[in-house]
Amino acid sequence: METSNRVCVITGAAHGIGAATARLMSLHGMMNVVLSDRDKEGADSLMNHLNTIRPKSSIAFTTDVSDSKQVSQLMKAAFDRFGRLDILINNAGISQSKVAKTADSSLEDWDKVIAVNQSGVYYGMKYAIPYMLEQGHGTVVNVASLAGLVAAPNNVAYAASKAAVINMTKTVALEYGKKNIRVNAVCPGYTDTNHFDQLHESKPELKERLLRATPMKRLAKVDEIADTIYWLCSDQTTFITGQTLTIDGGISL
Ligand SMILES: NC(=O)c1ccc[n+]([C@@H]2O[C@H](COP(=O)([O-])OP(=O)(O)OC[C@H]3O[C@@H](n4cnc5c(N)ncnc54)[C@H](O)[C@@H]3O)[C@@H](O)[C@H]2O)c1
Repeated sequence: METSNRVCVITGAAHGIGAATARLMSLHGMMNVVLSDRDKEGADSLMNHLNTIRPKSSIAFTTDVSDSKQVSQLMKAAFDRFGRLDILINNAGISQSKVAKTADSSLEDWDKVIAVNQSGVYYGMKYAIPYMLEQGHGTVVNVASLAGLVAAPNNVAYAASKAAVINMTKTVALEYGKKNIRVNAVCPGYTDTNHFDQLHESKPELKERLLRATPMKRLAKVDEIADTIYWLCSDQTTFITGQTLTIDGGISL
């Protein structure tokens, strides 16, 4: 898979799936990686690590993806620094602060989750695609979730935001297919990250139940999600667009 020197922007790159993807893109794919996260310290620390191994290959930006101006500035800064923008991984995402049935859920939670998980993905594509059009190619991978495919009781905002990501993926793929821009999504199942821990810290018995319900009887590792994202960005998948790939150890079955 020849991917060296490509420029890849990753949102939510400081931790979890985003950080694993950034490491893979940089150290295996030999790409230039633009790490963006609202956590400046985390993104800087990963940047320093990657630049120690591959000097000047990585830059970090503090970006809140729910702020359209910041996302626009991020894409411009990436293009100005490296002169191209080949790959966008829209990965940043949050879970609801409170798990509750719809009538008991908070408006604040709804607004926040939709702003980050749904609008953040829209802003990423809106502001990266013009650079991809200019150079005549591009690849986007949006990180959705199992919760966007099947019902996710007590998580209405999260479920809605991830279902929106799946349909935005199909819609944008259709819009730009003839311009050589591919757009795909991944739907991780339960994955071993902070995000999963936060979701279940108050309910350890639920975590056990989910593990039992997963045919492969374990959580996904972040590297397993990163491998799939990398593959979808590579030249091994040049005719795949508008697709949603589920990586869930079989639980959706
Ligand atoms: N962990 C799971 O079980 C699981 C399952 C399905 C989907 N996902 C999705 O995978 C993606 C990555 O999640 P993760 O599990 O690695 O979580 P994580 O919490 O480990 O990492 C998320 C990263 O996103 C960053 N972030 C959060 N809000 C942001 C914002 N407004 N702007 C910029 N950065 C922001 C965080 O600082 C963090 O670095 C998310 O979209 C999540 O919804 C996770």
